[in-house]
Amino acid sequence: MASKIAIIRGDGIGPEVIEQDVKVLNKISDLYNIGLYYDFIEAGGKYFLETGKEWQPDALKKCKQADAILKGPVGYIDPKTGKEVRREDGRLAGHIAVVGLRQELELFANVRPIKVYKGVRFKVSQEYYPDIYTSKNVDMVFVRENTEGLYANREPRIKKTAIRRIIKEVVSDCVISKKATERIVKYAFDMAKKMKGRPLDGKKIVTCIDKSNATISHRFFRDVFNRVASKYKDVEHNHEYADSFAGLLLLQPEYYNILVGPNMVMDILSDEAANLQGGRGVAPSANIGYNHAAFEAIHGSAPKMAGLDIANPIAIVRSSAMMLDWLSEKKNDKNLHLAAELIERAVGELIREGTYLTQDMGGESKCSQIGSALLRKIEELY
Ligand code: IPM
Ligand code: MN
Repeated sequence: MASKIAIIRGDGIGPEVIEQDVKVLNKISDLYNIGLYYDFIEAGGKYFLETGKEWQPDALKKCKQADAILKGPVGYIDPKTGKEVRREDGRLAGHIAVVGLRQELELFANVRPIKVYKGVRFKVSQEYYPDIYTSKNVDMVFVRENTEGLYANREPRIKKTAIRRIIKEVVSDCVISKKATERIVKYAFDMAKKMKGRPLDGKKIVTCIDKSNATISHRFFRDVFNRVASKYKDVEHNHEYADSFAGLLLLQPEYYNILVGPNMVMDILSDEAANLQGGRGVAPSANIGYNHAAFEAIHGSAPKMAGLDIANPIAIVRSSAMMLDWLSEKKNDKNLHLAAELIERAVGELIREGTYLTQDMGGESKCSQIGSALLRKIEELY
């Protein structure tokens, strides 16, 4: 059963990491006969600078028609001014392909698994507590509400030129609705039911992360969470305030299993957690909706690294493994799941061996060398 993948290469390091990822996907598609084919879509800050539009006119239609979407990061520096390209309203040029896509296609769950690979090299000092960030202790999933909160577009329309000069105050409403909160919390609990449980004692637990001690909207999020939680008898639940959790995550990662919370809180904390995993260069994510899903690395377009062939393609490669897994369930095709598993195993082996690593992981390999090394690993493990 063939699958059409809409691909947004994006800006900066996007095209380079996507190129390696497509190499991997082609190989895996041949081996498992899963018939992946691609529909490339132009979008992002560079496209905006050239055309005045954030994505090509039929982009949304193409995304809707595809079986799944694979997305590179967006965000571009104008070579003439040295400044980030922004839309007229001051937002990042390319915003539509990130936040817009999530809202348009109702990709309500942003799923960010955090799991440490064996042998991964860290930039987090482990001199005194070498056993804290192990693959046993760090094994959790961030489930981020992906359609509202502070990203809800309840913002005034202010031209970017006006922002600095005349405005005295700007209000961005944090929207927390019953509907969106219920569906994300249910998603988290349903996921917990299917999972093995947290590393140390095997208990299944969902933790609500919010700032309900400071804002009424987050208080409402927690209330809805508690109501949904009471219906899941076989899954435990608890709460942490987001600021306190930012510290606890570093001190006791083994306590956490599934984490659910409002949009921006989880954006920030999942970035922090990615660094316990071995860096943002390996951190994948899935934006899941009822009918559609988009897969992307959690890192940005890293303009300074662009074109140097030094970016780490592992995050997008792992995101596409998540994509194959999601497609496997959607199409009820076991081969897609096996293909996803093989990609994950190949990545795990590559990191464990440590011969081919990009500089962010303590190695010297080029982005393209990681792609080629992954192809060899995949062949070897198949
Ligand atoms: C992410 C990114 C985006 C977000 C930006 C680029 C708008 O940081 O996917 O986490 O904040 O959601
Ligand atoms: Mn982010």
